[in-house]
Amino acid sequence: MVKAAVLVSGGGTNLQAILDAEDAGKIRSARVSLVVSNNPDAYALTRAKNRGVETLVLSKADYPTRAQFEQALTEALRARGIGLIVLAGFMRILSADFTKQYPERILNVHPALIPSFCGEGYYGLRVHEAALEYGVKVTGATVHFVNEIPDGGRIIAQKAVYIEDGDTPETLQKRVMREAEWILLPEAIEKVSAQINCACGA
Ligand code: GAR
Repeated sequence: MVKAAVLVSGGGTNLQAILDAEDAGKIRSARVSLVVSNNPDAYALTRAKNRGVETLVLSKADYPTRAQFEQALTEALRARGIGLIVLAGFMRILSADFTKQYPERILNVHPALIPSFCGEGYYGLRVHEAALEYGVKVTGATVHFVNEIPDGGRIIAQKAVYIEDGDTPETLQKRVMREAEWILLPEAIEKVSAQINCACGA
């Protein structure tokens, strides 16, 4: 069983999808043991507490530099024997020094079809605004491994979502979450965790 940490910054609907998938037996090879937020007000923290999952806040006020944040994060992950890190709406970019410690052990969900509308500056609603501004007819979501390049790690899964006439960034965001993110991310966690267990002979 892989111990997973989920890193969040906001509402946490993807976290909820992961916890629901655990409850439904769709994630069997991993267990969410810790939820870490850089935002003390993130509703995702309430979702974790409601489910009895340990939470940790590493705020900008307490850890102003990325190095301080990542040192505290590394200590927390090591102390709990975390083997998989899931970025689920986590809005801080991790350094190469951090990602190097966890090769192909960090997953991220991105709300577009990489390599479109991705990289530094593309996060949350901004991604959907960019897709609508460009005028693409199909967008979607991507789950990928995290390396030192923002949104640049190996792709694990993608799902396309059609853009509809009259879509706003908000309506598009909701459809991409419902039709793609909430399905893909739990599936990818199970797939990667099963492979980790296999490699460990567990
Ligand atoms: C999700 O759409 C996720 O894909 C996106 O932020 C939203 C978080 O929602 N992440 C990024 O843009 C990262 N580059 P949630 O807090 O409800 O899961």
